[in-house]
Amino acid sequence: MAFSIAEAFAPATVANLGVGFDILGMALDGMGDRAVVQFKDSPGIVISDISGDDGALPREPSENVASVSARAFLEHIGERRGISIKLSKGLPLASGLGSSAASAVVSVVALNKLAGSPFTQEELLPFCLEGEALVSGYHADNIAPCLLGGIVLVAGTAVADLQPLPVPAALMLALVTPAVPVPTNAARAILPAQVPLRQLIQQTGNVARLIDALHRGDLEALGAAIEGDQIIEPARRDLMPHLDAARAAAKSAGAIAVFIGGAGPTLCAICDNDSGAQAAAAAMEAVYQEAAMRCLAQVAAVDHRGAYCICAR
Ligand code: HSE
Repeated sequence: MAFSIAEAFAPATVANLGVGFDILGMALDGMGDRAVVQFKDSPGIVISDISGDDGALPREPSENVASVSARAFLEHIGERRGISIKLSKGLPLASGLGSSAASAVVSVVALNKLAGSPFTQEELLPFCLEGEALVSGYHADNIAPCLLGGIVLVAGTAVADLQPLPVPAALMLALVTPAVPVPTNAARAILPAQVPLRQLIQQTGNVARLIDALHRGDLEALGAAIEGDQIIEPARRDLMPHLDAARAAAKSAGAIAVFIGGAGPTLCAICDNDSGAQAAAAAMEAVYQEAAMRCLAQVAAVDHRGAYCICAR
């Protein structure tokens, strides 16, 4: 069945999980972006409105991730009609919460519904990647969990490279996002071009421990593996204000481990229950308040649904 107007939601995501740089990502329950996409008679893509971005995002369709991913979809199916996109940003920009991925995904999920659902959710990956690549590079560690929900191993950029992983039932996240934008491109530019073999072995060992811990539902082992990152966090730590103090505060409040969400500056604490996550979030928030730095502190479970169409007609 085909429709003329559809609204979709796409969740926040955190990429990397410490040691899994560019190959692991997790969807977060609750927050996310929405888009209303509508066919129009004339060709071309129009961004009719964007809210929640304080005017920061480009309205020019060739420069906006939501329209670039939608265009890739339209071109692939040979659709002649144009569309209008109304985007509601629920995620802070350049925050490490997968804001660009959510925008790239949300328009395509709505559009897939409009077109009569010719693709499965996984098959939407290449279109969404076109949008993500515009601002963040051609990697799917936010896009894949945003589409599918859960924790996803992203061994490459093809649909066949995606592997959903088990999510420990007790896993809760405490998140704090200080008000310092960290553009992904800048956070990637400071990474080392090469790493010593010794570090490679350590990193791959910790990725293996992380996957094993997920399969066994062992949050202590998961936290130890996540914090085993000796390559990415050391290179980026100066971009994350008060990282050590926030980590120490979260752990004093009972958190198991703390990692940088994607390219940052969001910090994510692994917790094993809701009240512990609330305490860890409050403890990290207090660190930034003491430093007179605005921040957003929140608690989230893992989202299991991924992006979805809210309604269509
Ligand atoms: N894996 C990416 C990075 C996530 O850390 O640069 C941000 O898009």
